[in-house]
Amino acid sequence: ARGMLADTLSRPLRDLRISVTDRCNFRCVYCMPRAVFGNDYPFLPHSALLTFEEIERLARVFVAHGVDKIRLTGGEPLLRKNIEWLIERLAALTTPDGRPLDLTLTTNGSLLARKARALKEAGLTRVTVSLDALDDALFKRMNDADFAPSAVLDGIAAAQAAGLAPIKVNMVVKRGTNDGEILPMARHFKGSGAVLRFIEYMDVGTSNGWNMTEVLPSADVVARIAEHFPLVPLEAHTPSETAQRWGYADGSGEIGVISSVTRAFCGTCTRARLSTEGKLYLCLFASGGHDLRALVRGGASDEEIGTAIGRIWQARDDRYSQLRGNAAPAPANQARVEMSYIGG
Ligand code: GTP
Ligand code: 5AD
Ligand code: SF4
Ligand code: SF4
Repeated sequence: ARGMLADTLSRPLRDLRISVTDRCNFRCVYCMPRAVFGNDYPFLPHSALLTFEEIERLARVFVAHGVDKIRLTGGEPLLRKNIEWLIERLAALTTPDGRPLDLTLTTNGSLLARKARALKEAGLTRVTVSLDALDDALFKRMNDADFAPSAVLDGIAAAQAAGLAPIKVNMVVKRGTNDGEILPMARHFKGSGAVLRFIEYMDVGTSNGWNMTEVLPSADVVARIAEHFPLVPLEAHTPSETAQRWGYADGSGEIGVISSVTRAFCGTCTRARLSTEGKLYLCLFASGGHDLRALVRGGASDEEIGTAIGRIWQARDDRYSQLRGNAAPAPANQARVEMSYIGG
């Protein structure tokens, strides 16, 4: 069955996104609003977290079943102590036909200036850094933890210097909040080698107070940039790519737009998500996950775990964004996993 797992919509299992901590040093308004994620928020106790050995073992089984791309997420993954050790172990995994993995990480960049070299040396392929604004006051308002954009820019520069390329920069666009930063951000990263991607603000989780009026459709983002810098459409790298790519007509690089609200990409979604405590989620908008930690800690063999993963994936029918279409999101009283718990 190696590499041949497909779900009920014929989507193969290819990407595994592993959340290594549910904690973060930012309190982004669209992700971990301080009113909800305050001092008394019940983050997971250490004993609930998968250990690095447990993560490595599960990753190995996933790779034997078709996964060839692993992304570490959080919360903020660089807050997990000694993450380099885990990266080293994951970097040693190869696909059944002997290829190395695409091993990457999504970070808010605050610790990247300090850690980029060690991450590269441990075997990380590349990184994706979140940055929502270049304006100091606005960025601080959005991360609500007093981090300056210069700290993130230093992190990006360090990652580039360390050879963690190509760097992607993710900007969540909230209409009325940071859409004025679209052009400054585009101008800043044009010609830098980094690929800036604009993400439509999503109704993920139940605590960010999402509202359709705060979504700026990607089509508008592209139009605003194209007014100043002509753009040409580029082919997707892979069928399951989340972003639509646009190149600057003058050859100075590219941007991407991730339109999960106005142009859902569930049809080609090959992503599985492993939560910090070892639950397997089949969709960013799932209300629950499948407990793999119980299997691991209950003494299951690799083969038994592989069989369980296969059964779970083959029953998968999730396509939340596509079903929701332009309708209102599911009511907030309906359980939905938080982004900080499951990673982006
Ligand atoms: P690469 O392009 O290979 O670097 O990976 P990626 O596109 O998955 O990048 P990344 O992890 O940076 O994802 C960017 C953002 O897209 C995430 O932070 C989410 O906001 C969104 N996203 C990623 N995967 C999904 C998904 O499966 N469903 C939805 N609705 N949104 C997603
Ligand atoms: N909508 C869109 N993107 C989000 N992210 C977090 N919450 C949301 C949301 N509600 C993004 C972050 C980061 C990645 C981890 O997910 O900005 O790029
Ligand atoms: Fe932290 Fe990323 Fe969520 Fe911001 S978006 S609060 S940096 S996990
Ligand atoms: Fe995949 Fe769910 Fe996102 Fe659709 S909404 S692309 S199924 S994670």
